[in-house]
Amino acid sequence: MIKKAILPVAGLGTRFLPASKSIPKEMVTVVDRPAIEYVVREAVEAGIEQIILVTHSSKASIENYFDRNFELETTLEQKKKFDLLKEITDILPKHVSVISVRQPQPLGLGHAVLCAKDIVGDEAFAVLLPDVLVKNNQYTENDLSLMIQRFQQSQASQIMVEAVPDHLVDQYGIVDVAVSPNEGESVIMQGIVEKPAVGSAPSNLSVVGRYILPAQIMALLETTPRGAGNEIQLTDAIAALQQSQTVEAYRMKGQTFDCGSKIGYLKAVLHYGIEHPKLGADFKGLIQELAL
Ligand code: G1P
Repeated sequence: MIKKAILPVAGLGTRFLPASKSIPKEMVTVVDRPAIEYVVREAVEAGIEQIILVTHSSKASIENYFDRNFELETTLEQKKKFDLLKEITDILPKHVSVISVRQPQPLGLGHAVLCAKDIVGDEAFAVLLPDVLVKNNQYTENDLSLMIQRFQQSQASQIMVEAVPDHLVDQYGIVDVAVSPNEGESVIMQGIVEKPAVGSAPSNLSVVGRYILPAQIMALLETTPRGAGNEIQLTDAIAALQQSQTVEAYRMKGQTFDCGSKIGYLKAVLHYGIEHPKLGADFKGLIQELAL
C-alpha cells in the first residue's frame, strides 16, 4: 500500500508575488482554507497516512496549520464555540501525521523529493505538487486513489497526465505514449521530457504533479545532473527509471487548478466557492449579480 506522500513546499512562489512575499503560496486561502489543505485532503482520501512536507525556513506557518493549537482550542472550548473547534480539530484525521524536512538549497523538484529519502526508506510513495489542485466530484473518483490501485495491480510507477493546448507544452513535463490513454486509464509511457519547446513535444499530455514512484527513484535522483532551468528535475530521474522499469501515464478524470498562477487561483476560488456547503448558494448569487 502507498501510505506516504511527499509534498514539496519549499518553493518561494515568485509567480504569486506580492501575496507570497510574506505568506507561503500554499497558505493562500481558497474560499475558507489554505490551498495546501485541499492537497492534503486529496492525499488522505486516497489512503495516505503520512504527509512529508519538504519545506523552507520561511514556511513554518504550513507546519503550524497542521499542528494542534492548544491555546486556540481551549479558548474556543471555553466560549462554547464547538462548531469552530470541530473545524480546526478536523483538519487532519487522527490516523494521519505530518512531518517535515528542510530543502536546504533551491536545487529543483528532483532535489526536493530526494530530501525525503530517509523518511520514505524502501517504500513506494506518492508525490503531490501543491500548486496544482485536483478536483474530483461525485462523478469522478479520486484520481490519486485510482493511480494507487493501478500501481498495486501493475507495480508500474504512475504519472498523472492531462491534455494541454499545444502552445502550452513548454510549461510542463510532457510524456511520450504510443496511444493516448482514455480518462481513468494508464498506458505504458515511452518517454518523458521536461518543458519541451513548442513544436518538439512528443504529445500534448502534460504532467499534472501527481506521481506514484518506487523507492529506487531516490538512488537515481542522487546521480541526476541538473537539467531544465539548471535544476535537478524529477522528470529526468523518471526518464532514467524507465531504463529499468515500466512507468505508466495515468490520464486523470477530474479537473486541475494551477493555484501557482493568479488566474488559476481565481478559477479555483470560483469552482470551490460555488460548491461550498455553507457559502455556495450565496456565492453563486454574487456571481450572477456580477454577470448582469
Ligand atoms: C513541475 C514539474 C513538471 C510538471 C509541473 C506541473 O514544474 O517539473 O514536470 O508538469 O510541475 O505543475 P514546475 O511547475 O515546478 O516548473
